Amino acid sequence: MSKYKELQSAFIDKIEADEYIGLDTSILFYNKLMESIEKPLKMILLFGKPGTGKSVLLNKIHHDNKESKPIYLISTPILNEEEFLRTLYDFLFPEKEQPETISFNRFIQILHTLKDEKHIIVLLDEAQLYDSTMMEKIRLISDSRVIKFVVALHKTDREDLIAKEHFQSRIWETIELKNGTVHDAQVYLQKKIVQKNFFEVATMLTKGNVKLIHRLTGGNYREINKLMYTLLEIYDYYEKKQPSKIAGNTFQNKFIEMAGLKLGYIHA
Ligand SMILES: Nc1ncnc2c1ncn2[C@@H]1O[C@H](COP(=O)(O)OP(=O)(O)OP(=O)(O)O)[C@@H](O)[C@H]1O
Ligand SMILES: [Mg+2]
Repeated sequence: MSKYKELQSAFIDKIEADEYIGLDTSILFYNKLMESIEKPLKMILLFGKPGTGKSVLLNKIHHDNKESKPIYLISTPILNEEEFLRTLYDFLFPEKEQPETISFNRFIQILHTLKDEKHIIVLLDEAQLYDSTMMEKIRLISDSRVIKFVVALHKTDREDLIAKEHFQSRIWETIELKNGTVHDAQVYLQKKIVQKNFFEVATMLTKGNVKLIHRLTGGNYREINKLMYTLLEIYDYYEKKQPSKIAGNTFQNKFIEMAGLKLGYIHA
């Protein structure tokens, strides 16, 4: 297998905490979110376009704090209300057996008995998938101040609406994740490649290459992954069929453009 083919795995979407990269902007958002979590807020809204690193950030925060804080992560929305409540119940009482039935009202009563006694943090990823009834219940649960929610959702026009309806007056802190800068893209790409020990490939990536990649992807990490994956596919192809075409110590912008064309970032 060529080194390019092997390196492709670095650019498959992954949200594992051990592959987290501390970019300037992601560290900023990390600290911001940690500060918000420490404040006596009921809910925190984390939003941003798809691929800006919300899930990566939640995973990292959960991973780093779960030994020292009662912090829990629901990565995939639990759309069944009772199942959702049961999950929260387990977070609150890991030792206790579950009651036979848990109604919403009963759950709220339980929360009242825990006031000033228990405080847990629940990270809800992909929260755009909860319907408005569920969101309203989540909000009512947060009113107890026993459970603080970090609600992550992506920002599309529709979700903007949800965010407005449900949170505007009620969420007391919102954090918006943004695409990376050219510098972020540079660090991101270098570290991704070096994580896989492909040091010589890391040196092939010039500032000019990074600038072009950033321009084509807008600095969106998921798009950067896709572009790199495709670029490495092209390099793997030429390495096997026509190595002279990719001779040289750097990536050639024409191949980056070719990858962009393939992905529809550039229109022929
Ligand atoms: N700080 C980071 N360290 C390492 N990889 C990152 C980082 N930020 C983003 N990524 C990469 O970008 C990809 C997309 O990020 P992520 O899945 O967190 O986006 P998202 O904002 O949750 O998107 P969506 O709204 O679609 O759920 C990840 O799979 C990962 O490969
Ligand atoms: Mg996500």
